[in-house]
Amino acid sequence: MRCKITNKQLNPFMSFGKMPIANGFLNKNDFSKEFFFNMEIGFNEEIGLFQLNDHPKPETMFNKNYPFFTGSSVYMKAHFKMYAESLKKFLKSDSRIIEIGSNDGTFLKNFVDSYENVLGFEPSKNVADKAMKQNIPTENIFFNRENVRNFKEYLGNTDLICASNVICHVPDLKNLIEAVDLLLSKSGTFVFEEPYLGSMFERVSYDQIYDEHIYMFSVTSVSKIFEKFNFVLVDVFPQITHGGSMRYVIKRKNFKDKSDNVKKTLITERDRKLDKIESCLNFKENCELSKLKIIKKIKAFKEEGKSICGYGATSKSTTILNYCNIGTNLIDYICDTTTEKIGKFSPGMHIPIKNMDYFKKNQTDCVYLFAWNHKDEILNKEKDFKGKWFSHVEV
Ligand code: TMP
Repeated sequence: MRCKITNKQLNPFMSFGKMPIANGFLNKNDFSKEFFFNMEIGFNEEIGLFQLNDHPKPETMFNKNYPFFTGSSVYMKAHFKMYAESLKKFLKSDSRIIEIGSNDGTFLKNFVDSYENVLGFEPSKNVADKAMKQNIPTENIFFNRENVRNFKEYLGNTDLICASNVICHVPDLKNLIEAVDLLLSKSGTFVFEEPYLGSMFERVSYDQIYDEHIYMFSVTSVSKIFEKFNFVLVDVFPQITHGGSMRYVIKRKNFKDKSDNVKKTLITERDRKLDKIESCLNFKENCELSKLKIIKKIKAFKEEGKSICGYGATSKSTTILNYCNIGTNLIDYICDTTTEKIGKFSPGMHIPIKNMDYFKKNQTDCVYLFAWNHKDEILNKEKDFKGKWFSHVEV
């Protein structure tokens, strides 16, 4: 793929093989028409950007059946409430606020009572509908330069644009940043948080890589990308969400008050070689080792006659199951709370998805915690489970 920012061709350094749509949970009669793509990753050293070489069209992933609801995690709801609180310092009582990829409105809900001009852009109809039902102003369209032009009262007049776990989904970053430029007021703030490259390398949580996650950002890459568009990265805040994320605060170039966090993190990233292909090659080796280790572990459970299920039919689990070739010969089922996934089968490996009742009634010996990023919340709920929890990452 050609990088939209530097116009350079990407050279993949690793392939995860054929992958289906990570959130494409499907019915049995759709198995034969399932879509697969070759999931390769590359690294653009000029801007320090880790990215997929190719990816399915956004419309294939974000449509009327998107099966992920932000509000499905109590911890994430609390996180978004605190996130929203921390942003109120950027706002006046009449400020306009936009969220990119506003999902079911979990985040914007924290603003609608105190601010009149709040707007979410959400391309997936089912989740957008859920937000609208709660009176959270939502447009069921993609956030891009062409679409935002229609919101005249927001152009050059929006004090806060936010996003969470969304910017890494957007193939055309140039178009996205130009849309932000059209909307943001002179002293406006663009804040977004995304899974962090440094955390993924540290934990070898390669399951962060899937069709929707086109980029894995670092402070280096975000700083270099936005510099090219007359913006400046003024602050960063590490987050524990999604196994390690980073919150980025962006202002227009003329903004003077830059925090030391940015400078310090840039130095740490340079020391860790997060801006160099070497760290990627090291990560590649670690992924291959992780794959061998988890297959060995699961096979050992099987040889001991243990039953195994998965917990959390996450998009991340699609990468693990397909990369490690783990199917129903090893894992009986995956339990999940999401109505849209229950009764269907996992993408690619076709493991049945069951509800929580099934999990409670069919005590399994070992549980692969695919939703490892929600470990505290889940273990708290499942105190009565007497079997063994395991995962490919230390949590
Ligand atoms: P995520 O890792 O992308 O946030 O996806 C989490 C998935 O795990 C989602 O399908 C909902 C599911 N889940 C449960 O089944 N039970 C839980 O307690 C939590 C927190 C999530």
